[in-house]
Amino acid sequence: MNLEALLSARLAVAFEAVAGEPVDPAVRASQHADFQSGAALALARTTGRAPRDIAAEVARTADLTGLAEVEMSGPGFLNLTVDDAVLAAPHPVEPPPGPVEKVVIDYSGPNVAKELHVGHVRSTIIGDALARMLVWAGHEVVRVNHLGDWGTQFGMLIEHLADPAGEFSLADLTAFYRQARVRFDHDPDFRTRARLRVVALQSGDEATRAMWQRLVDQSERSFVADYERLGITLTMADFSGESSYQDQLASVVDELTAKGLLVESEGALCAFPEGFTGRDGEPLPLIVRKSDGGFGYAATDLAALRHRTRDVKATRLLYVVGAPQRTHFQMVFAVGRAAGWLDDVTAEHISFGSILGIDGKMLKTRSGDTIRLADLLDESDARASSPAIGIGAIKYADLANDRRGDYIFDWDRMLAATGNTGPYLQYALARIRSLLAKADVEPGEVVLGDPAERRLALTLHAFEPAVAAAIANREPHRLAVHLHELAVAFSTFYEKCRPILGSPSRLALTARTGDNLRLGLDLLGIPVPDEM
Ligand code: ARG
Repeated sequence: MNLEALLSARLAVAFEAVAGEPVDPAVRASQHADFQSGAALALARTTGRAPRDIAAEVARTADLTGLAEVEMSGPGFLNLTVDDAVLAAPHPVEPPPGPVEKVVIDYSGPNVAKELHVGHVRSTIIGDALARMLVWAGHEVVRVNHLGDWGTQFGMLIEHLADPAGEFSLADLTAFYRQARVRFDHDPDFRTRARLRVVALQSGDEATRAMWQRLVDQSERSFVADYERLGITLTMADFSGESSYQDQLASVVDELTAKGLLVESEGALCAFPEGFTGRDGEPLPLIVRKSDGGFGYAATDLAALRHRTRDVKATRLLYVVGAPQRTHFQMVFAVGRAAGWLDDVTAEHISFGSILGIDGKMLKTRSGDTIRLADLLDESDARASSPAIGIGAIKYADLANDRRGDYIFDWDRMLAATGNTGPYLQYALARIRSLLAKADVEPGEVVLGDPAERRLALTLHAFEPAVAAAIANREPHRLAVHLHELAVAFSTFYEKCRPILGSPSRLALTARTGDNLRLGLDLLGIPVPDEM
């Protein structure tokens, strides 16, 4: 058990004795002491007793032997100072306890024939960090890449590909997509043929299907190449595109119809889950089958949800998708619940904000186009002294911010060797490794003397609650922010406490810092350069 949890457990006993009922002692790391509890103040409001009286009684009653000193302060806070021996003792990091779950993480989800671009960067980076953390925590993780590989846009793409006189290269899918789009917009003849292609694709015409497969294969190869470059754990085996649910859609409609969940509206089959209304106050439809008989994004997501719970038997579904799709997912979940597909299963939309340029607007190229991930990585290679540093900078900038907010993509700030950046953490680890390599004595027992040693030891104990909070709240920034604090505590220790090399105690603190930084960076998916 980590220190915070241990102190909490001990204080909880005292609070319960004083209050006559269970009370959350709300033990938090603090500026004023190692930890502080403000629970007496909250309890005073509900009981009418003086907060200082409660705090004094809890301080008298609490059994913190061998763990910490407690002192009342201010209007009724309890300040806790942990015993040096406790701080100094080795305490390998352990994953948070709890039941093992089967978790499906749906992330990245790029669209075929459009390369990965900044719009998918956050889903890819955040989703991968969550996958890594959940695996470490012992859960059974199923990564799913819900590829946009189906839909009417394939009509024009295949028709363009089928053109014997066409001059194009699939190597540049973005350009290919653009050419097809231009023809579709300007050539009515092409448009007609493109529409027929959609029908041919859906009815399983072999030649059409083969061309579609070429487009999908080429796209998947380009995505996997990007993932490898970025250090993302998604592989070919994780692709489960929209097309893979096509033969389940009719049965989804049948099942929802049998359960009385679909209503015909203007020729379309719609679900109207309770509590969703449009701007005009009218109930909002989730269109399951369009009036032309076709199926769209929502139908596919319903089929995918049913498949993941009924066939994959997941107990938890995470969808790492941007904030604009919030209503879509809330409605899909509501229909899934009504259909009984989410009994004993939790579905969560892990939403996130946008990446902005330094002008505070959506990040775009100079000409206003979306930025391809590959171009972003090229620029990062050009700017950073090694690919690992550039990638670390990009990933850390994304993960260090609360995912719900937008963040500004600023190369200079992200790549700085100081401040709250990926390279700063990588440098800290590199320095630690070189210290440990140079040392000619072994790390030994930790003896705390200097306040900087004590601060570092205390910060090392904060890793476990930080990673637990990151996992429980699906908030990688909780871990990222902690790693930065750890690197800062280490750098103060490094400046104040000399020598390190000849001191078994300081080398042990250094080694523990290195272990935690290494684990933390691994869990976030941030590479550790061999040399810096
Ligand atoms: N392809 C979608 C997009 O680009 C993202 C897919 C997210 N996952 C899902 N199950 N809908 O917006």
